[in-house]
Amino acid sequence: MKVAVFGAGTMGRGIAQVFATHGDQTYMYATSVASAQRHRSEIEKSLAKRVEKGKLDQAEMDRIMGNLFCEEIEAAADADLILETVKEDMATKRETLEKLDEICKPETIFASNTSAFSITEIGAGLKHPMIGMHFFNPAPVMKLVEVTAGLNTPPELVQQIKDLSVELGKTPVEVKEAAGFVVNRILIPMINEAAQIYADGVATVEDIDTAMKLGANHPMGPLALGDLVGLDVCLTIMETLYYEFGDTKYRPAPILRKMVRGGHLGIKSGKGFYDYSK
Ligand code: 3HC
Repeated sequence: MKVAVFGAGTMGRGIAQVFATHGDQTYMYATSVASAQRHRSEIEKSLAKRVEKGKLDQAEMDRIMGNLFCEEIEAAADADLILETVKEDMATKRETLEKLDEICKPETIFASNTSAFSITEIGAGLKHPMIGMHFFNPAPVMKLVEVTAGLNTPPELVQQIKDLSVELGKTPVEVKEAAGFVVNRILIPMINEAAQIYADGVATVEDIDTAMKLGANHPMGPLALGDLVGLDVCLTIMETLYYEFGDTKYRPAPILRKMVRGGHLGIKSGKGFYDYSK
């Protein structure tokens, strides 16, 4: 299968790695070919570390890297699957997909990895069918894929994407369209609450995370998880939940907004609830 992943942030890179590992010809797109190549090198570095640790064969790494390509957008025209992983901004997503709608063959499936947006809105007016295929961070490790149909998604496409997810070694869960789907509607308000608990001075960052790791058996604490997901992404999801449901229980914690405004986005910016600059 030929897959084109548009958007090479943390999720786009991870998802590209998943498809390349599965043996698909995977095209990576970012703001330019040079930028996509830099993201491809990041995957190479991370795989090389696993080879060094003896967790991956050099031959397997070469096979995966051999499936990853960076070309101009025209190369996506005959892709079987477009995976949209650009930033959570409706205008950016629409702009990318409208361009692809013009050039892709009619059979190309359009899928979005949106964290919380409406699939119906993302796909509105496009000639190509649109579906939600939502991976989790880190994509090569996390087993879940949420599969979401919008109002105009052909029903048979849902089964096709569920089957594909299983082929990729993931477990799909079918979700009706609703802001945040299942996981982010539960998980991100939890991270938001943890941020508010910290802002209220109830406990330190470390103690909040220790409490949830040891008291709820979570693999990592909510504030470390917020840093991993990206605090800007967490804020956008809270804003989407708040807007879509109109319910004050989804109010973003003011500290989250302040941290995003100040560029404290988590791991990707070197600073969030924890300091990653050292
Ligand atoms: N890429 C590839 N492999 C990775 C990886 C990455 N980015 N990060 C970790 N791994 C691999 C490691 O190499 C290791 O594999 P190995 O056993 O073969 O060596 C394995 O995953 C476990 O990693 P570690 O031993 O380094 O660390 P942990 O055991 O502590 O696990 C974790 C790390 C998987 C991140 C774990 O802490 C975890 O599950 N955390 C919760 C993650 C989570 O909740 N994600 C969902 C976020 S919400 C989301 O993504 C939705 C979005 O829309 C916002």
